[in-house]
Amino acid sequence: MIMRIFLFSLALLVVASVVEQGDRAAMLAVSRAFQPHPRRWSTISSFAYCKWRGVTCNHNNHLVISLNISGLSLGGTISPEIGHLSEVQEVYLQNNNLTGEVPSSLAALPSLRILDVSNNNLSGVVPEFERSVKVIYRPGNPLLKDRPSSGKAMTEIGRAFIILAIGFIAGFYTRLNRRFRI
Ligand SMILES: *[C@@H]1O[C@H](CO)[C@@H](O)[C@H](O)[C@H]1NC(C)=O
Ligand SMILES: *[C@@H]1O[C@H](CO)[C@@H](O)[C@H](O)[C@H]1NC(C)=O
Ligand SMILES: *[C@@H]1O[C@H](CO)[C@@H](O)[C@H](O)[C@H]1NC(C)=O
Repeated sequence: MIMRIFLFSLALLVVASVVEQGDRAAMLAVSRAFQPHPRRWSTISSFAYCKWRGVTCNHNNHLVISLNISGLSLGGTISPEIGHLSEVQEVYLQNNNLTGEVPSSLAALPSLRILDVSNNNLSGVVPEFERSVKVIYRPGNPLLKDRPSSGKAMTEIGRAFIILAIGFIAGFYTRLNRRFRI
């Protein structure tokens, strides 16, 4: 019995540290992608990432829940590994000079509620986020394009409708023509 409890606790510990390792590796990649990286962030070791400026971790398992590096005049890019921060809810990157794309891995984060990347110099296309996520990318980012939205689907439906209507009117007209000729 005691052995079983011991093994169970050990398993929990291993799972917890594996999860934490994921955040640790991700934070190192995120830090390395910024040029320059935020002051007191390391690009060598992310051992203490929970203590980095603007990083908030939850108390139980040391996973990042909030990232705020707004207004630090940072350049560089947003590492796609940011998408490994499995518990992160808020990501504030606004008012910097970040370039490159908004990683689509961000859109796959299950807990994300708000992402602010406004006033940067990002490019590419905004990935598709869940509706529940508040995504702010304007003002700024003149090179960043909106997703071709459902507006496109609407014009497609509209076009099909017009073709149908023309077909219907043409058919009606032919029939009318035939009747009057007889
Ligand atoms: C983010 O950090 C900046 C200063 O570093 C602060 O002014 C701002 O209130 C913070 N935003 C949030 C949502 O915590
Ligand atoms: C971005 O960089 C330009 C020039 O490199 C600088 O003038 C500007 O203040 C920077 N913007 C921010 C928000 O750091
Ligand atoms: C934004 O990026 C473009 C091209 O990458 C560059 O020419 C421009 O100077 C940048 N603007 C700022 C404010 O950094």
